[in-house]
Amino acid sequence: MIKYLGSKRLFVPVIGELLNATGAQNALDLFTGTTRVAQEFCRRGAFTYAVDTATYSEVLAQCYVETDAMNVDQDEVDRALRHLSSLPPKRGYFTRVFCEESRYFHPDNGARIDAIREGIDEYYEDSPLRPILLTSLLEAADAVDSTVGLQMAYLKQWAPRALKPLELKSPVLTPGTGKAIRGSAPEVVATLPHIDFAYLDPPYNQHRYFTNYHVWETLIRNDEPEYYGIACKRMDARDEETKSPFNQRSQIGPALEQILRDLDAGTVALSFSDEGFLPLEQLVEYCEARGGAVEVLEFENKRHVGSQIGIHNLDGQKVGTPGPAKNLEYIILQGDPETVRALIDGAVPRTGSQLP
Ligand SMILES: C[S@@+](CC[C@H](N)C(=O)[O-])C[C@H]1O[C@@H](n2cnc3c(N)ncnc32)[C@H](O)[C@@H]1O
Repeated sequence: MIKYLGSKRLFVPVIGELLNATGAQNALDLFTGTTRVAQEFCRRGAFTYAVDTATYSEVLAQCYVETDAMNVDQDEVDRALRHLSSLPPKRGYFTRVFCEESRYFHPDNGARIDAIREGIDEYYEDSPLRPILLTSLLEAADAVDSTVGLQMAYLKQWAPRALKPLELKSPVLTPGTGKAIRGSAPEVVATLPHIDFAYLDPPYNQHRYFTNYHVWETLIRNDEPEYYGIACKRMDARDEETKSPFNQRSQIGPALEQILRDLDAGTVALSFSDEGFLPLEQLVEYCEARGGAVEVLEFENKRHVGSQIGIHNLDGQKVGTPGPAKNLEYIILQGDPETVRALIDGAVPRTGSQLP
């Protein structure tokens, strides 16, 4: 699984338990990112809708959510990965932009990434294996990058992992199935059928995923965009249509309120943080407008490494101070009073709990 800001790695068992406790047959992971949560829903037997605006997230969802592990011929996947691994390295856009003009990857790995990406389009364009092969390439590239997990900057010295050779591995596919949807949450929600259990994990402050993961967006789209700045970000990152309402203080409230109004769901679990643009009281109010009961689970969380080591410029000089080492994560539950009470009384810890 790729390194991802706000990924709910530690929450997955808790959210999975919530799903099971409601007896849901279908589920929604509305801001699916890495698809970790959606994968857990699939494993627990719910037909799962996985929604995100990012192209790489759509591919991850096609691989891990839409594809049922039971229907895949593993020998065929292994053969395709061996074939792609054997392609001769080829210096292309990825190598030039992300290994020479910037230093996200070692050029030896960059040339292999270029060759494999081209090979996927040449030999597997119409194959059902395509999302599996793209996911394998994305995860292999993530394992040899030279960043702290964000693509706004790269390390001055190569990270030790960046000097290792790129290795394509078979993604560990998930049993169960669902649907991958690329689109903006407020619009997609209105098109969905009734959902038994909906999990919402929106961005909650100014940190944009489109710019923080622009290399993955470009790798998957393979569209060789114009770029700017020392981080070689996609030129279209400046366009309004690539900006999310959830990264804007003035827009996040109305966008969330609309989603919570339009979403046809039995039980809703909304993730947020005490570092987000909206206070807890506001979120509770939006949820209460849906009717039924609302309760809040609260967890103490160790923050992202970048926030603890402080902010440095590309010369390694410190230009900011580290924030607090811990923050609070909330899961706000809304649904019929009996179900919400059962969730709260169940095995799930309530307030002040610490994530493992
Ligand atoms: C906090 S992350 C979700 C992390 C995810 N739960 C995981 O564990 O990997 C928020 C996600 O929202 C997506 N996003 C941003 N704006 C969006 C929008 N308008 N509609 C749908 N998804 C959006 C981002 O691409 C990002 O993947």
